[in-house]
Amino acid sequence: MGRKKKTTKRKKSLIAETITPYTANSFSFEDMIDNIVQGDNLTVLRLIPDNSINLIITSPPYFKQRDYGSGIGNEKTVEQYIENLIFVFSECVRILRKDGSIVFNLGDKYLEGSLQLIPHRFAIEVLKTFPVKIVNNITWVKLNPTPRQYQKRLVSSSEPFFHFVKSDGYYYNLGDYMNNKGTKIKRTNGNNIGKKYFELIENSSLTLAQKKMALCELQEIIEEVKSGKIESFRMKIKGIHSEPFGGQDGGRKYQLMKKGFTIIKIKGEPIKRDIIECAVETIKGSKHPAIYPLSIIKELIKLLSRPDDIVLDPFIGSGTTAVAAKELGRKYIGIEINKEYCEYARGRLKNIGLEKPLELFS
Ligand SMILES: C[S@@+](CC[C@H](N)C(=O)[O-])C[C@H]1O[C@@H](n2cnc3c(N)ncnc32)[C@H](O)[C@@H]1O
Repeated sequence: MGRKKKTTKRKKSLIAETITPYTANSFSFEDMIDNIVQGDNLTVLRLIPDNSINLIITSPPYFKQRDYGSGIGNEKTVEQYIENLIFVFSECVRILRKDGSIVFNLGDKYLEGSLQLIPHRFAIEVLKTFPVKIVNNITWVKLNPTPRQYQKRLVSSSEPFFHFVKSDGYYYNLGDYMNNKGTKIKRTNGNNIGKKYFELIENSSLTLAQKKMALCELQEIIEEVKSGKIESFRMKIKGIHSEPFGGQDGGRKYQLMKKGFTIIKIKGEPIKRDIIECAVETIKGSKHPAIYPLSIIKELIKLLSRPDDIVLDPFIGSGTTAVAAKELGRKYIGIEINKEYCEYARGRLKNIGLEKPLELFS
């Protein structure tokens, strides 16, 4: 866990300047649920009670990437940009429940020919500043990166999604994550299953009794593969295959010594890795230039929240996080500074639920 940083002067003045409009509008936390709130996220986040949100998923504007009109992203230096993100992150930590998660997706930037490692610098600053842990750096591999080849560098085609938590008791539903999309171990094929082992057993220096038992167990395991009970297997035969290192009494080394062989079953459940391969999404007629893939956000929501939980995005843009949350039976709160994007997000949400407009700055 990192140590907590003292609130800086800059943060205090930023909040003092922006808190005023709220007092004029005054609406409650409950009003924000299942709504897109227009306003500066620092101001809006300050209206949300401590420990009240289950999951925060967001993608702030990347540094000097686009002009969204106002808000974060066009600071003079990378340091100022990261500092502003840290202010927002600080509120996210405060409002997050103890068993909740925060996921930040950030993009990098080249300045004068050098990659700035902005997402990682942000993540390091978070670890130094807040009592949180990073569970994963989930890499989004873009299947359709911008088709522009540089002469002296490779095309960037990945972005991190950092998964932060406040405690080890964070909610996690691995079963629902990327169902059937994990990396499967290759299945051994057809009638050749285990064929090589029959020959190896025959030609081995095992006793007759050991050979008989090995052939019998080999036949049984082949049937298990054929019936789909297990994905595959490996066999080790004394005098032919290398001995396993270490191990305990009764373990594989022991079996190899006593029985003359050992069989390792491969169950074949998909391994759920910290990589998501997915194309960059475009929505026909979209008013927003930087939409992240709905499918990634849905997987993360399934992994990190339960039905009816509150999912919040402080940089909601076109409303992707809210759409994903609603489609999965979660509640949402979206915050967006740009009025036009708020309207666009509300339009996307109209198809799947009631959307009452809320404006912080009228
Ligand atoms: C990268 S976009 C998010 C896109 C979103 N993930 C989607 O799929 O549509 C970042 C958004 O943050 C908004 N923004 C920037 N600064 C903000 C602030 N201080 N408060 C609220 N929204 C802000 C921008 O207007 C922009 O729409």
